Amino acid sequence: MLIFITVLMLNVWAISADDVLSPNINIIEDQGKIKSIETIMDSLETEMEQLRTENKELTATVTEQKGNIGELRDEMNKKNEEISNLSSQVEELRKENRGREIAFSASLVESGDKYIGPFSTHFTITYKNVFTNTGNAYNPVTGVFTAPLKGAYMFRVSVIL
Ligand SMILES: *[C@@H]1O[C@H](CO)[C@@H](O)[C@H](O)[C@H]1NC(C)=O
Repeated sequence: MLIFITVLMLNVWAISADDVLSPNINIIEDQGKIKSIETIMDSLETEMEQLRTENKELTATVTEQKGNIGELRDEMNKKNEEISNLSSQVEELRKENRGREIAFSASLVESGDKYIGPFSTHFTITYKNVFTNTGNAYNPVTGVFTAPLKGAYMFRVSVIL
């Protein structure tokens, strides 16, 4: 019990008498400080508001650009698909035409026959003696040659009079 009281008394003596009786407060000076802090706070608030607005604008721009990028990507994918489709079409056409030679040779009269005609009306002369018919484009029954491929064709006809 005796020890407890002693400690309590020591604590009381430890508080400085100056601090308790005349605290160091200058109200005018502190008001000035508060005013300048308020001014700083105001300008910070204004700045914050500006930054917020700017941020909003930037966010909108970024969103818009993201949309644009997405659209461009879609377009590019479509173009790539088109190119890919065209490439495979070209490849298919190449495969179709590869090794497709078109040629035929035929004669009108059989060896030994001297001539045909004369005729009084126009009609399709059928070259019945077919020697070669690569690609089967010449029809020896109708006498009609149908070009199966795009390209340049050369015909040579020998007529002996
Ligand atoms: C490419 O070909 C595929 C399959 O034939 C077709 O479904 C698609 O629409 C084509 N794409 C374009 C962009 O032409």
